[in-house]
Amino acid sequence: MEIIYNVSLMQRKADEWRSAGKKIGFVPTMGFFHEGHLELMRVARKNADVVVASIFVNPIQFGPSEDYNRYPKDIERDKKKAQDVGVDILFIPSVEEMYPDGFQTKVHVEKLTKHLCGLFRPGHFDGVTTVVTKLFNIVKPHVAVFGEKDYQQLLVIKRMVKDLNMDVHIIGVPTVREADGLAMSSRNTYLSPEERKSALCLKKSIDMARDMVKKGESNASIIKKKVEELITSYPFTKIQYISICDPDTLEEISQINDKALIAMAVFVGNARLIDNAILEKVEKGDRI
Ligand code: PAJ
Repeated sequence: MEIIYNVSLMQRKADEWRSAGKKIGFVPTMGFFHEGHLELMRVARKNADVVVASIFVNPIQFGPSEDYNRYPKDIERDKKKAQDVGVDILFIPSVEEMYPDGFQTKVHVEKLTKHLCGLFRPGHFDGVTTVVTKLFNIVKPHVAVFGEKDYQQLLVIKRMVKDLNMDVHIIGVPTVREADGLAMSSRNTYLSPEERKSALCLKKSIDMARDMVKKGESNASIIKKKVEELITSYPFTKIQYISICDPDTLEEISQINDKALIAMAVFVGNARLIDNAILEKVEKGDRI
């Protein structure tokens, strides 16, 4: 596996591969790899000839009171993991390399960013779409892989790619979870052992919501109230939002007809955790 720190070197490598007819797969990350990241890399491997993963903790997607300065890092461990899953190039640019003096351009997706996390993290998605656009222009991928754990991010990126005619195919990968159901996240490392137990409330409440819908409940407020009660019954938790919304537009819905998305952000201690799932009256596994 080759490590590249430099933007123009990465672009040259991408050009070489493209001239040789290689299909480039790309997994953008902020590092501190867990099985979720590695699964994305495996999917990229299966869908491309060569795979690039990037590690860049992107300052412009963090708010002033967020965890940019304490975001977990372990580059040596990440290198080993990426190598083991067959990544060809690990691209690790510096902040100066990505945002040199004078940088002043922003990519903005209008409507999808007004909901869910967008309401509580102003500017966050502009930071994401701007850096992902830059990374696409640097790595020049044919396919790029993102996790459904960040459902809104995946939707925003798909919209951006479509709206701006970016010639890259976006693949979404289902959320990878710990054995007990907690969605894997680099931020889980912030949890103390006691908080780690409470963090299960996200998945538990999502499972409860799915169950309610399967049993015929279609009133979103009733489900949200139950979810809220369950989450607040766990110590160290503080709900930022619970949303039941349209999976395509992310607009809040009051009645679940066909399909809905349940999405939530909950602080457990200092860690802001997110999770989501599709609510369906009849789930795929139920159909015979
Ligand atoms: P990061 O949080 O490091 O996540 C990188 C990718 O891994 C994202 O596509 C995310 O959805 C996916 N991912 C994280 N946890 C996952 C899990 N448990 N299961 C499946 N996929 C998971 O998301 C970002 O970085 C940044 O916003 C980025 C896109 C790199 C732009 O800076």
